[in-house]
Amino acid sequence: MDIFTEPVDETVAETSAEQPVDAVVLLPVAELHLHIEGTLEPELIFALAERNGIELPYADLGELRSRYEFTDLQSFLDLYYANMAVLQTEADFADMTRAYLTRAAQGGVRHAEIMIDPQAHLSRGVSLETCINGVGSVLANSLEEFGISTLLIAAFLRDLPEDDALEVLESLLAMEAPLVGIGLDSAEVGNPPAKFERLYARAREAGLRLTAHAGEEGPSSYVTDALDILGVERIDHGIRCMDDPDLVERLVDQRIPLTVCPLSNVRLRAVDTLADHPLPAMLAAGLNVSINSDDPAYFGGYVDENFSQLAAVLKISAFDRARLAANSIHSSFASEERKTELLDELNAV
Ligand code: HPA
Ligand code: ZN
Repeated sequence: MDIFTEPVDETVAETSAEQPVDAVVLLPVAELHLHIEGTLEPELIFALAERNGIELPYADLGELRSRYEFTDLQSFLDLYYANMAVLQTEADFADMTRAYLTRAAQGGVRHAEIMIDPQAHLSRGVSLETCINGVGSVLANSLEEFGISTLLIAAFLRDLPEDDALEVLESLLAMEAPLVGIGLDSAEVGNPPAKFERLYARAREAGLRLTAHAGEEGPSSYVTDALDILGVERIDHGIRCMDDPDLVERLVDQRIPLTVCPLSNVRLRAVDTLADHPLPAMLAAGLNVSINSDDPAYFGGYVDENFSQLAAVLKISAFDRARLAANSIHSSFASEERKTELLDELNAV
């Protein structure tokens, strides 16, 4: 039987717990949780600042890197938004996207669903055309150039008012931005899913796919509300679901994908250390989890580094790593034809 062509099931998850740890083989994966602005590496930040004549508040790379000690989500977001100042032109957005795809391809990524934060650029006076066309121009040829099929997701900032998000969504629809769906990110606690009910209704009506960050720092009830009030198909992060056994049962029964980002969770202190990460328990529960890098330039690793550290620290077996890779493909918004290609590639490894 070819196990990786079927979605996750509990029987397989249970037996897999006893597999031995072995060498980490690079697997073809889909990356489903990736903020393109979170791929801005320090070197590129300095190069773009120089190109655009922007003075950075850091003397050198070392000083910038010394700021990458985060205490929580907000402490990261402050730096993440500040560094976006270097993104001014379509070429800047295109260069950032090319750099990500180059690195992701080396790490085994064969399909990527990339989030962009349009409101974070509009508020700096950078137009939707500049950011969407800059990223979109590279995504349009990503399969030919990098061997990675790509889709674009517009993420909305949950700490801003819903009306702001609705206005931006209408503009994106009017300009026929090449979007597969919408997401919801930024400061979670105090900005529950219910705040964005109308935004998600409008996106659904427009035929967009729906995902939202929930249960990263926020409570498990945000995961429930994202499903019930927003009608999302996929949950970004979702680790706090483990606080609610009934919710876990529901997520398993409905095979709701959770795009988990282990190194992000450690760096943002959602978990104390990687050894404390709930991933093994999530796998054992039969949850449909995938592994993603979130903001790899800030959190110490791309997808392949997340996989290798999971193997080294949490002893996630080769079998479970393959299961995680298969989950990422099944949980993607790619066409059935593309999913079959990717699963064939995975089965060949
Ligand atoms: N959480 C919430 N918002 C974000 C993140 C994240 O990990 N990365 C970029 N925006
Ligand atoms: Zn995220």
